[in-house]
Amino acid sequence: MLDTNIYPKIDLYTYQKEAKLKDGTKVLFRPMVAEDQGALYEFFKAISREEVRYLRDDVRSRLVVEKWAKNLDYGKTLPILVLKDDVIIADATINRRKFGWKWHLGTVRIFVHKDYRNVGLGRMILQELSHIAYRLGIEKLVAEIPEVNESALITFKKEGFNLEACIPNMVKDRENMPMDLVVMIKNIKPPHDESYDYDF
Ligand SMILES: CC(C)(COP(=O)(O)OP(=O)(O)OC[C@H]1O[C@@H](n2cnc3c(N)ncnc32)[C@H](O)[C@@H]1OP(=O)(O)O)[C@@H](O)C(=O)NCCC(=O)NCCS
Repeated sequence: MLDTNIYPKIDLYTYQKEAKLKDGTKVLFRPMVAEDQGALYEFFKAISREEVRYLRDDVRSRLVVEKWAKNLDYGKTLPILVLKDDVIIADATINRRKFGWKWHLGTVRIFVHKDYRNVGLGRMILQELSHIAYRLGIEKLVAEIPEVNESALITFKKEGFNLEACIPNMVKDRENMPMDLVVMIKNIKPPHDESYDYDF
């Protein structure tokens, strides 16, 4: 099990980071809090039907966002918001399991508002998620992306995620059409086994 004493720490309750996009826009990264529920709903409401097809959850549903806000548990799902002048312009999550054989993995999802694409924000988010993951002791970040989502595949590849598998007809879009699913993985740190006791 993870020895938290040997990893650099991150306090998710005080974490925030200011950054500047390629076009000079100043943005703020911080974890979502319950009070963000309304703003996050507005953010996702603006997503087109076409893009919702490629997402795991129907994020345009008020109930889905409400459930997230009510059940915040950063140890399980860490939602990172990016804001410009207090308005949400991107949302990202790292999902983890606290126990079991996947405790060292983090599953990543990101969504950048269409008005803020192609100015480096997607890549900046993936870099920031990698820093956070390192400080949480996560060894690998995993992304599951429909094969038709070319922009996402390119963005993740540019940030060090390798294509590890493509599983045919694995997921379905909102019209129940099957899509191939690509699994991409980024190694964050080597497997940690120094404190492992070979006591068989
Ligand atoms: C995928 C996504 C996050 C990218 O965000 P973004 O802010 O536009 O990304 P960036 O501006 O950092 O650009 C990513 C890089 O990929 C390149 N790129 C992206 N789409 C491309 C395409 N279709 N063809 C060629 N290059 C492409 C960009 O040119 C850029 O390269 P550069 O840094 O060398 O200039 C954004 O399109 C999005 O939110 N999509 C909807 C949600 C989604 O698909 N999430 C991913 C699954 S979890």
